[in-house]
Amino acid sequence: MALLKSHKVIYCLGNISPSLGTLSTRHSSWWAGVQMGPPDPILGVSEAFKKDTNPKKMNLGVGAYRDDQGKPFVLSCVRKAESIIAAKQMDKEYLPITGLGDFTKACAKLAFGADNEVMKSGRNVTVQTISGTGSLRIGANFLSRFHGGPRDVYLPKPSWGNHTPIFRDAGMQLKGYRYYDPATCGFDFNGALEDINNMPDKSVIMLHACAHNPTGVDPKMEQWKEIASVVKQKNLLVFFDMAYQGFASGDIDRDAWAVRHFIEEGHNIVLSQSFAKNMGLYGERVGGFTVVCNDAEEAKRVESQLKILIRPIYSNPPMNGARIASTILNTPDLNSQWLEEVHGMANRIIMMREKLAAGLKKEGSSHNWQHVIDQIGMFCFTGLKPEQVERLTKEFSVYMTKDGRISMAGVTSGNVGYLAEAIHTVTKCAVFANCLLLQIPGVHRSGCMRIRHHGFARIKVEP
Ligand SMILES: Cc1ncc(COP(=O)(O)O)c(C=O)c1O
Repeated sequence: MALLKSHKVIYCLGNISPSLGTLSTRHSSWWAGVQMGPPDPILGVSEAFKKDTNPKKMNLGVGAYRDDQGKPFVLSCVRKAESIIAAKQMDKEYLPITGLGDFTKACAKLAFGADNEVMKSGRNVTVQTISGTGSLRIGANFLSRFHGGPRDVYLPKPSWGNHTPIFRDAGMQLKGYRYYDPATCGFDFNGALEDINNMPDKSVIMLHACAHNPTGVDPKMEQWKEIASVVKQKNLLVFFDMAYQGFASGDIDRDAWAVRHFIEEGHNIVLSQSFAKNMGLYGERVGGFTVVCNDAEEAKRVESQLKILIRPIYSNPPMNGARIASTILNTPDLNSQWLEEVHGMANRIIMMREKLAAGLKKEGSSHNWQHVIDQIGMFCFTGLKPEQVERLTKEFSVYMTKDGRISMAGVTSGNVGYLAEAIHTVTKCAVFANCLLLQIPGVHRSGCMRIRHHGFARIKVEP
């Protein structure tokens, strides 16, 4: 190797060995300063899962629906739509910059409801996007270019991990508002209201329309109403992320309630939609981005700028997934079948929540697992600590993100018992590594005591 450093010698070797000769003509690297980045937290979990040979292993990291056999699920309405499309032998010309018109109309109608005032007045612009992520990014770029208010985007704490880089890379500044309360494993309503009240006028607030990711905690209707009214007083721009319409309750209208309420209350929101989860079109990348404007004239101007923004990024969106979604949304029979299938997926998840909580009780867990049932949608924020998550993975081959989030979609009738046993084992008081040792005179048996806000403490008995 030392010899290779000499140009003279390399030149000679180059005549002998073509491969070394190529080396000799190479410049020093352009990318020597590029640092190794950390692996994606969710995809990293899947990689580790793949390598595990334990037949009982469970991947609860990735947010993709599985059937009760743990298999990826393709909806029957999707299969039917695909055969209708195939039979039509359609061309593969470019779509317009804003996407497939039949799809974008149906997409907006799904969010706002049939006969909604917004679409009747023509004051929405809806463009087809590359699923929810693409929609959020187009939205973030649009805000970065045109939002006249502060560049601050307030995300719930915590929020979907990708929100931060999406908005940051678009040049917005990230701020947060209180959302999840670890003490109750529920919504920190008062904290959220207080933080919203302190946001500077015209800031952007991100709201998860339903099935909040990662916590599974949604505001109740009455709480939504109050949030809408405070947001109005503060004159904030609302960015709704609706990636799970139908997945929370099984009812697409109920899950869109918050979005529709804000519109009725006069908020001109921006909205991101994804068809990855509710139609199982993950890899097809189907989504929509909508700006609700003051009137049709404003909508035309906004649309023209969205086209200018999209054109140099990906020119125009892919057609296959949009054709599938459009066929389902616009064909009455298929639409009804889809609604039933969404309902079926949501119900299976709800059932698994109940079975997991019951399983933990059966194992003898003394913790309160009610939040497993109360939380909504694909994810459950278990409240497990990173060290407990680590034990679940090491000892039981149960894979999940370090924040204690599990995808309920990966839980089945076949593995829910195993999961309950595993969670119980790592949450039993005796195994808490950093538990307090309390000595309470006069107490005559060992046990556990819940200390509010501080988890559990082991009580050692001094008879
Ligand atoms: C809250 C939230 N928004 C958006 C998305 C976007 O997903 P996709 O780009 O697959 O549609 C997800 C996916 O997990 C999500 O959880």
